[in-house]
Amino acid sequence: MKKSLQHHILSFSVLFLIVFLFSGFKSKAEKPEKVYLFGYSTVKNNGKNGLHFAWSTDHKNWFGIGPEHSFLKSDYGSWGPTGKSMSETFLIKDDNGIFHCLWSVKDDVIAHASSKDLINWKSQRYIPVMKNITKSGDEKPVIQNITVAKKDGQYSIHWIVNNKTYYSTTKDFKNYTETKAYTGTSAKLAEVNLQGDIQKGTITEVDWSTVEMLTKTMEAVKFKDKQNSTSPKSDSLLFTGLKSVKAQITINGQQSKKISNMLTGVFFEDINYAADGGLYAELIQNRDFEYAVSDKKGRDDKWNATMAWSGDFKISKENPIHQNNPNYAVVTKGTINNTGFDGIALKANEKYDFSVFAKGNKFTIKLKSSGGETLAEATISPNASWKKMNAVLKSSKTVTDAHLEISTNGETAVDMVSLFPQKTFKNRRNGLRSDLAETIADMHPKFVRFPGGCVAHGDGIHNIYKWKNTIGPLESRIPSRNIWNYHQSMGLGYFEYFQFCEDLGAEPVPVLAAGVPCQNSSDGGAGQQFGIPMEDMDEYVQDVLDLIEYANGNTTTVWGKKRAEAGHPKPFNLKYVGIGNEDLISDVFEERYRMIVKAVQQKYPEIIVIGTVGPFNEGTDYNEGWRIANDLKLPIVDEHYYQSPGWFINNQNFYDGYDRSKSKVYLGEYASWGNKFYNALAEALYLTGIERNGDVVAMASYAPLLAREKHVQWNTDLIYFNGHEVKPTVNYFVQQLYGQNPGDFYLQNTVKLSDSNNEVNKRIGVSAVQDKATGDLIIKLVNVLPVALTPSIAVTNLGTAENASYTVLSGTPENTTARPVVQKMNVKEAFSKELPPYSFAVIRVKATEKVLLNETF
Ligand code: AHR
Repeated sequence: MKKSLQHHILSFSVLFLIVFLFSGFKSKAEKPEKVYLFGYSTVKNNGKNGLHFAWSTDHKNWFGIGPEHSFLKSDYGSWGPTGKSMSETFLIKDDNGIFHCLWSVKDDVIAHASSKDLINWKSQRYIPVMKNITKSGDEKPVIQNITVAKKDGQYSIHWIVNNKTYYSTTKDFKNYTETKAYTGTSAKLAEVNLQGDIQKGTITEVDWSTVEMLTKTMEAVKFKDKQNSTSPKSDSLLFTGLKSVKAQITINGQQSKKISNMLTGVFFEDINYAADGGLYAELIQNRDFEYAVSDKKGRDDKWNATMAWSGDFKISKENPIHQNNPNYAVVTKGTINNTGFDGIALKANEKYDFSVFAKGNKFTIKLKSSGGETLAEATISPNASWKKMNAVLKSSKTVTDAHLEISTNGETAVDMVSLFPQKTFKNRRNGLRSDLAETIADMHPKFVRFPGGCVAHGDGIHNIYKWKNTIGPLESRIPSRNIWNYHQSMGLGYFEYFQFCEDLGAEPVPVLAAGVPCQNSSDGGAGQQFGIPMEDMDEYVQDVLDLIEYANGNTTTVWGKKRAEAGHPKPFNLKYVGIGNEDLISDVFEERYRMIVKAVQQKYPEIIVIGTVGPFNEGTDYNEGWRIANDLKLPIVDEHYYQSPGWFINNQNFYDGYDRSKSKVYLGEYASWGNKFYNALAEALYLTGIERNGDVVAMASYAPLLAREKHVQWNTDLIYFNGHEVKPTVNYFVQQLYGQNPGDFYLQNTVKLSDSNNEVNKRIGVSAVQDKATGDLIIKLVNVLPVALTPSIAVTNLGTAENASYTVLSGTPENTTARPVVQKMNVKEAFSKELPPYSFAVIRVKATEKVLLNETF
């Protein structure tokens, strides 16, 4: 590692020297003390590239730092074309030397962030400056020409909307006076010609050292990005001529540390049709006729109450089966069809439970193949008033694209038209697709996080996931639009999630919004910057507390009783509750988050609260999230990062320096960008580092878990599927091998390689753990090199263990079909077995009474 650091410093110094020379100075003596710094943003990439800098000594010749390097990115609004934009950037330094940056965001707010050094920025704030000026129905104001001037100990901020100037004042950039119209002439943003393009921004005078620091930062980021962009192609150049590598691995059976045995879990989010049309085994799409154009924000008018249905029927709302389920279908002398989710998959001779709320005339139900052949049939004879009716249908054939047909000669009303395979996971009613659930179960997950992800905090405050809407009789649940732009029936609700965890033997980890919706909300004014109004927060906090009562309370409590009524009188033994999901750590967030966390800690001190530290492994939200976590002494925080395989290869030591006295980490979402074997291996390698740091990392879950083909909104995922097939990725098998081979103790080890190149060193991972329950020793070896690796493993204190299982996963870097191959072999053979190029092996040494590895046992 030392060598690599020297190498980095050397490359970095060379780069900096080049930049320095190109910047126009010939020697150190010519360095100016002060220079002009131009802060600006551009329209490139829809204005999403953030804050840039250029410097000059004469106001004429400008040198871009980067150029286009982002020193600060706007986090306002959705990921769509208008969100995250920055324009009209104004920079001002206050009397305490703090820089304040204000910018326009294509909405009726002005954004603000502050920084000591222009590199590390504090949380962003969004000031609702036009709130009292714009009337509802008005077009979104475009805020232009933001300028700030200091006068009489306060700052007056001016801006222009529709040729009118407005202003507001502040002393601290936290509290602002009410916006007023301004009749004088306000200052203008500076304009600078940068390589032929006129850019608008602010010119300030700074020390030359500031420019040096900005340049160094930019170069360091560029260097890291280049290093992390490693690929099989660049690796093959890097390792030309490399012969196979030998590794002498010594595992010290007596030196161990306790680690978490919950390092592999599952992140479940209803994204990519993971719930309806996915894990939830319901085969009828839009069974309740509650799909709505608003599910897709009006972007598709076919996405309405009739979605997935065809034939002659009308939607009625008169006297519905439940107030939460207002729509139903009325069929008059005719036939209607439902095509399920891209066709209904049926298996020959398997039974399917059909149910429906119906009233009116007799009707027949048929399951038909796409060619029109009837595969199963039943008759339903409803009453004059709503009644739930059932039938069992047995399919005569295996097909993947059947449909359900309902025909009547009279008039009949139907709602909650449902078809479930009888064979669900653990044969649960209203259960889960067994093939998908079994695939998840095979990972041996120690916990399941649900219901997200972004789904948990939702698209605007009205879309925050409300667990209470998801329990009780199916027809009474409140469906909702999904932040991923489809429909959540809530058939897979909190009861089913808890039950799934119990069936898996995994800890439930519900994640609840911290009183703010997703910072990527497209729901404008109801977005992250405002949160749930404080006057409604007590009710929201109560919802969080009620969830714990629902899971754990005895059956005499209000919510414990509801759990019992749903068929589970025994508590679910909830131990963890996540508050917040990778939120933007704003003042609005912090106030609500602290309130919820404190309430849970006070009422349920035994519950382990998992906090949140933003969407990235660094930056403002990460730093601010950790600041609050330290202050609240949170037991665990949830970290998220999606990165390139190169990042995972280069950051295996990420947790080595974490302070063990602070919060533990739940790595709640991570994945390298891709489902090729190279990605899977980079993840396997990184996980050796996670196991080594299993004393500070408590849990980890790859994300997202599921994706239905044709409905993939987020790549990459762990398990792809369609109506009849499950397609685990190579990444899945890495998770599975870790999940099936966890440890309770990490055994200290040393690795000596025959090749001293640090790039070689970085691509070999070793982890040795011992499982308390079986006493087995588990060694994981990862080889991300294009050459074979010959290990020679010595374990001190191993005793006379003889048998091992040897599982290897190998393939080309591009491979997507590699599968683990398991062999039994003796320990000696396993300890010296050559690992093929690009491979991951797990050696499990079976404990015998003679095996004594660890005196702490
Ligand atoms: O895993 C997909 C999304 O990634 C999650 O919803 C969100 O938390 C993250 O940004």
